[in-house]
Amino acid sequence: MSVIHLRAISKEFGRVVAVDNVDMEVKDGEFMTILGPSGSGKTTILSMIAGFEAPTRGTIEIGNIDVTNDPPHKRDVGLVFQSYALFPHLTVFNNVAFPLKVRKVPKSEIEMKVNKVLELVRLEKFGNRKPNELSGGQQQRVALARAFVFEPSILLLDEPLAALDRKLRQQVQVEIKELQRSLGITTITVTHDQEEALTMSDRMLILNNGKIEQLGTPEELYSKPKSRFVADFLGMANFFDGIIESSNGNVYLTVKNGNKIELDEQYESSSGQYVSLLVRPEQFKMATPDAEKGHSGKIISSVYLGNEYRYQVESELGTKVIMTEAGNECRWRIGDNITFTWDERDQRVLFK
Ligand SMILES: Nc1ncnc2c1ncn2[C@@H]1O[C@H](COP(=O)(O)OP(=O)(O)O)[C@@H](O)[C@H]1O
Ligand SMILES: [Mg+2]
Repeated sequence: MSVIHLRAISKEFGRVVAVDNVDMEVKDGEFMTILGPSGSGKTTILSMIAGFEAPTRGTIEIGNIDVTNDPPHKRDVGLVFQSYALFPHLTVFNNVAFPLKVRKVPKSEIEMKVNKVLELVRLEKFGNRKPNELSGGQQQRVALARAFVFEPSILLLDEPLAALDRKLRQQVQVEIKELQRSLGITTITVTHDQEEALTMSDRMLILNNGKIEQLGTPEELYSKPKSRFVADFLGMANFFDGIIESSNGNVYLTVKNGNKIELDEQYESSSGQYVSLLVRPEQFKMATPDAEKGHSGKIISSVYLGNEYRYQVESELGTKVIMTEAGNECRWRIGDNITFTWDERDQRVLFK
């Protein structure tokens, strides 16, 4: 069952096309993440789902009901927007109670619900404090509690963790994910943080200039990106640019300096096309120069990252290539000559 359904949604601000013909379905209980560069339309999409902005074209359905023209309070949506701050003059308790008061919930019920949700975010001892007496992470949890308290079926989070330092961000991420799963809340979150997106999402949507570049599971987007934009946006990517050529049933990518990379036969019909070949850093197999097969290269830098080594390699393919090896053993020194290969199944031909 899809809980949120955007049908051909566009939003224009004067001449700016903020969102361009977006179709998106989010299923019941799903955790969807929207990723994209600044200005790509992420906040505008959430604002339209919440009802703060009306789409220029298209319709929005929540639970199979057209809510396109409904005001925000008629939608069953909880929000944590970066700009949607806590009320500084209210205690934590009253901040969290606010959405219930607005909805005219009886006082005894408010007390019970607020205490329950404060316990959930582990702030039960902080009800009497003011926001400025809390750490950044605690304030974020109050904002979450305020969004959770009226038990919305949908939760929208617009970069709620951007202001937190890395360690705290990771903690709060885990908390949000656990709450979301245990309460079964359909969640759409916007983030800049790739790692956060990959670890938390059931599915992800990559936006570029108001348009969907790709929508899929984290695995699909990482290992089968449809475009160079998606490949580059998610994780580290090496691209070998060249032209597809074929002779005697063999198909190659010929790079600028004339060197060749073997391609699958299925690309024969694309001969003559300029493409980029994607190979992720962890997919290379590095060997000594006397190896029978592979491309040659020379190590030009080496960095230890705690659980892997990352090497930069000057390669015969004409570009500098990033390669990583997991583990704590530094196998290569700067200046070493190497041979490198990768499994043909791990490379991806990208046409745009
Ligand atoms: N209220 C507004 N008035 C005019 N332009 C806007 C408004 N809100 C957003 N925009 C423009 O729409 C585009 C998308 O903005 P936004 O959705 O905030 O992007 P993101 O959240 O991905 O950074 C940007 O070009 C932005 O300048
Ligand atoms: Mg934004």
